[in-house]
Amino acid sequence: MTSPENLAYSPAGAAQIGVIGMAVMGSNLARNFASKGHTVAIYNRSPEKTRAVIAEHGSEGAFIASETIEEFVASLERPRKAIIMVQAGPATDAVIAQLCDAMEEGDIIIDGGNALFTDTIRREREVAARGLNFVGAGISGGEEGALHGPSIMPGGPAQTWETLGPLLESISAKVDGVPCVTHIGPDGTGHFVKMVHNGIEYADMQVISEAYHLMRYAAGYEPGQIADVFAEWNRGDLDSYLIEITAEVLRQKDRRTGKPFIDIILDAAGQKGTGRWTVKEALDLGVPVTGIGEAVFARALSSALAQRQAAQDGGLPAGTLSTLEQLGIEPGDFVEDVRRALYASKLVAYAQGFDEINAGSMEHDWGINPGDLARIWRGGCIIRAKFLNRITEAYENEPTLASLLLDPYFKRELEGLVDSWRRVVVVATQLGLPVPVFASSLSYYDSLRAKRLPAALIQGQRDFFGAHTYKRIDMEGTFHTAWSGDREELDY
Ligand code: 6PG
Repeated sequence: MTSPENLAYSPAGAAQIGVIGMAVMGSNLARNFASKGHTVAIYNRSPEKTRAVIAEHGSEGAFIASETIEEFVASLERPRKAIIMVQAGPATDAVIAQLCDAMEEGDIIIDGGNALFTDTIRREREVAARGLNFVGAGISGGEEGALHGPSIMPGGPAQTWETLGPLLESISAKVDGVPCVTHIGPDGTGHFVKMVHNGIEYADMQVISEAYHLMRYAAGYEPGQIADVFAEWNRGDLDSYLIEITAEVLRQKDRRTGKPFIDIILDAAGQKGTGRWTVKEALDLGVPVTGIGEAVFARALSSALAQRQAAQDGGLPAGTLSTLEQLGIEPGDFVEDVRRALYASKLVAYAQGFDEINAGSMEHDWGINPGDLARIWRGGCIIRAKFLNRITEAYENEPTLASLLLDPYFKRELEGLVDSWRRVVVVATQLGLPVPVFASSLSYYDSLRAKRLPAALIQGQRDFFGAHTYKRIDMEGTFHTAWSGDREELDY
């Protein structure tokens, strides 16, 4: 068998699956396959990493390690299946080109990275022209998920699912015995839904952070106390991975200073791009993912350190600020309101994300089933949450639901949340604490339910300066008013 010193042993056609890229995600995925009894071919551009995986984990299962792509490909059983876990972008293209040269007709190349779905569509076309299959697969769950059971979102040609399905099901997370993987649809659907998953992840993380901020700076709770609140919330409607890890982060003490860990972290949030892609694509599709957009911008604003410093140095005026005490609000009551505002804003984030998925599916004729998607997000992925069961049911009951918020269950939930949600946005504003996603989600909700929107005025303005025309509420047709002339209304 392969040893760390000798990676040359590659029995032809023995491995059921191959993984390229031995950084943490790739090596953990390979170990996951091996732990499920599969023989796994592994390869990394620099063989040292491959050797390290064999040295540290070679005894966990059957690995065949190779030093060249040709050896790696030869070690796979046909049709060959190779998962690429390298950096998105040019590195992925380079590996695909090498695989295309070494593989044969019918083989399957899977890209498990966070690729932009339009790149995936292009790659699928290029790979198909070489007689091979290409599958863009979103994989969520971070390092732990890759090792113990991620949520997997494969797109690509439907026939690849017959071969890939059982393999992916064996390593995926399971909820009530149901694997968190399904064939999403053709083309770049896998990476499209993973992109939106990440957009929802951004909004979810932001609303949790807004809730923390209010408990800390409005209610005056200490981090450990807030950790207890989140742990408590994790036993109810908000039960989710992100709430669970939030409690852990808040409970952590800095090893160097003994201070709360949260207080020594620079408050500038990073981002690798998937949230931004979600918003850019939503803009093109015309889908208002306002919560996700605000979450992306909140990260950008937090990272604009020089500008923030200038604003502080310049002492931007706050106007008159209140405290909870001055407003006569008990901290405990306020925290319960915050829980409800968080739940409501989270519902909006998921509703907007699913709107984008449905719009993308319509636009590209992909036939994505939102209920199936909600089912595979119940476990393994970063946004896994108890209420995804309810989203699955909502789409099962009504596959063409106009908005998740209109599902009878969620509608009832919102009825119980909306007063608290309003109070939280009002109070946060009175205290001068920023709540971009709480507030924009509430505005979105109120816009959806409004009988009239100010858009009528915008149409009037557009017609005034640019003869852009408007429609009337009382008759068919398109109209323009001769603003600079006699102001007669003309049919257009
Ligand atoms: C996942 C995560 C993972 C990663 C994102 C977020 O589903 O496992 O979404 O893909 O954590 O890329 O990264 P940023 O916050 O850096 O954009």
